[in-house]
Parts: sequence; structure tokens; C-alpha cells
Amino acid sequence: MKVTVVGAGAVGASCAEYIAIKDFASEVVLLDIKEGYAEGKAMDLMQTASLNGFDTKITGTTNDYLKTAGSHIAVITSGIPRKPGMTREELIGINAGIVKSVSENLVKHSPDVILIVVSNPMDTMTYLAHKVTGLPKNRIIGMGGALDSARFKYRLAEALEAPISDIDGMVIGGHSDKGMVPLTRLATRNSVLASEFLSEERLNQVLEDTKVGGATLTKLLGTSAWYAPGAAVSGLVQAIACDLKKMFPCSALLAGEYGLNDLCIGVPVILGKNGIEKIVEIELSDAEKAKMQESAEGVKKTNGLLDV
Ligand SMILES: NC(=O)c1ccc[n+]([C@@H]2O[C@H](COP(=O)([O-])OP(=O)(O)OC[C@H]3O[C@@H](n4cnc5c(N)ncnc54)[C@H](O)[C@@H]3O)[C@@H](O)[C@H]2O)c1
Repeated sequence: MKVTVVGAGAVGASCAEYIAIKDFASEVVLLDIKEGYAEGKAMDLMQTASLNGFDTKITGTTNDYLKTAGSHIAVITSGIPRKPGMTREELIGINAGIVKSVSENLVKHSPDVILIVVSNPMDTMTYLAHKVTGLPKNRIIGMGGALDSARFKYRLAEALEAPISDIDGMVIGGHSDKGMVPLTRLATRNSVLASEFLSEERLNQVLEDTKVGGATLTKLLGTSAWYAPGAAVSGLVQAIACDLKKMFPCSALLAGEYGLNDLCIGVPVILGKNGIEKIVEIELSDAEKAKMQESAEGVKKTNGLLDV
């Protein structure tokens, strides 16, 4: 199992580290355009192998796609992150060009690859990867909902004063401050609805805190977060690499599911060795359907800025 991670910055390196620590891949190739950067990160990570007890081989390369040849899975984290006060959508000008050339290069050297797109604005970058590569829709996956759901569970645990292992919850919709749809109606503590424990007002606060989860961290850190994004990506990679048939909300190309067409947006999917093996359609309330529709309009507006 060979995994390539393009972009050896904060998210790319964190993702490579979590993949290695989970010890399911034989090889992780880190690629970056910054001279020597990926090589340095790979060497530093390899020097944690005896300390953390993994056998995954991590190598780095400066923009040499020959080294990525034959990858089963490739993660795209290359591009600029947002600074405090910026929206993810504002990154499109620079990141679209990067994601386009990176996707083309990856597929050229690994025609059977499954792509996981992380660079923002993620739903639009996932759509762009579809447009430029023409890969079947099960083989391009956008990572956003897995992270947003982890942030949702963090906020739920905080409100319920409960350990996170007691909590379940999911965020669907666009990966943007306005577009996220945290499904508060379905959130549970050990299968009991969170609404049994929390007032509507407190649940709404959880919802709002979840939606600005990324912006809150960007304000604190001066750049966007990397530990939880890296861990979320590694979960998706593991589900595919180990054929786990696990369900995550991911950005998938829709063709009528949820009444939506010709866009990538977060919906529950089953991930296994073929990538997206199924899009799961759950019954939404009228209010959730309306939010999903509004979220889709936002994603389509950003897609309209693409030159494809
Ligand atoms: N989808 C999500 O949930 C999520 C979460 C966090 C961050 N992000 C996004 O991930 C991206 C990366 O964030 P980061 O914090 O790691 O940024 P970073 O600046 O730390 O790292 C980005 C890396 O990409 C490299 N790069 C730029 N152009 C490249 C190219 N053409 N080929 C190869 N490498 C190239 C840069 O040299 C840099 O090392 C951003 O767009 C950010 O918004 C998405």
C-alpha cells in the first residue's frame, strides 16, 4: 500500500505522521515544491519510527512525480491556508491552479489512484479535480466532513460534560463557515438523543461553535489547524487502504442524491477499497433539507469562479 501526500506543510506532514503511526501502509511519499522541504519532513518523521514503533517507510521528494508512481491513494494538501479573518473561498485564486496541476501529475503517474482532496475551498477543489482528471466519481473524495464532525463531537462533549467516546454526531453540507449542516437532531450520547440532555438554545450554541470551528483555531494559531485535519485524513486513508467500509461524511460528486446535481458537497459515504462505495441517503427534516439546499447554492457559486 503506497500513499502519496502532496504538500509537506502543516496538514500534509500531520497526515503523514498519523498514517505512519497507525502502521497500515508500507510507504508514504511526501512531495512538495519547496526545495528539500519534503525530504526534511520525511527524515524527521522517519526518526520517530523507532520511538513510535512503526515500520511505514516515509520518503520525501521535491516535485518529482516519478517517485509517486504506482500510488494507491494520494492526498492533496498543497496550497495556501487561510489567515485570520479570511474565508476558505478566498483561497480559490491561488489554490485552483495548484490543485489542477497536482491532480493531473498524480493521475499521470498513478492511473489507478484514489484522490483525497484537502486543499481549500475543498468542495470546489474536489469538483475541480473531477473536471481535470475525469476519474470515476468513486475515486475522488473531499475531506471536510470528517474533520467538522470531530469538531462537532468535541463541542457536544463539552456541552454534555461527557467523555468524547460517549458522543456521536455528524456534519454534512459544504465545508465552509456558512455551509456546514451539523445534524444536531440526530446527535447522541450513548444512543440517547443529545436533545434529551441539552436545551434547544445550548444545542444551537454547539451548532454555531462547530460551524466556526476552523475560524476559531485560525484566529488562535495565526494559520489554519493541522492536528485534527491530519488525523481526519488518516482515518479516510485507513478506511480505503484496509477496506473498512466505514461511514464518513465526505465531499462526493452528486448526481441526484439529496436532490442535488453536478457539485461536490459533504454527504455520508461508505469508504472501502474502491473509494466511495456508496452514498448514503438519510431522511432529512424540512429544515435540514433547506439548509442543505442553501449550502449547495454557496458551493455552486464558488464553483462558478473556476475556469473549467
Ligand atoms: N479540508 C479541510 O478540512 C482542511 C483543513 C485544514 C487545512 N486545509 C487546507 O489545506 C491546505 C494546506 O494547509 P497547510 O496548513 O498544510 O498549509 P501549509 O502552507 O503549511 O502547507 C502547504 C504546502 O503546500 C506546498 N505547495 C504549494 N504549491 C505546491 C505545489 N504546486 N506542489 C506541491 N506542493 C505545493 C507548500 O510549499 C507548502 O509546504 C490549505 O489550502 C488549507 O486551507 C483543509
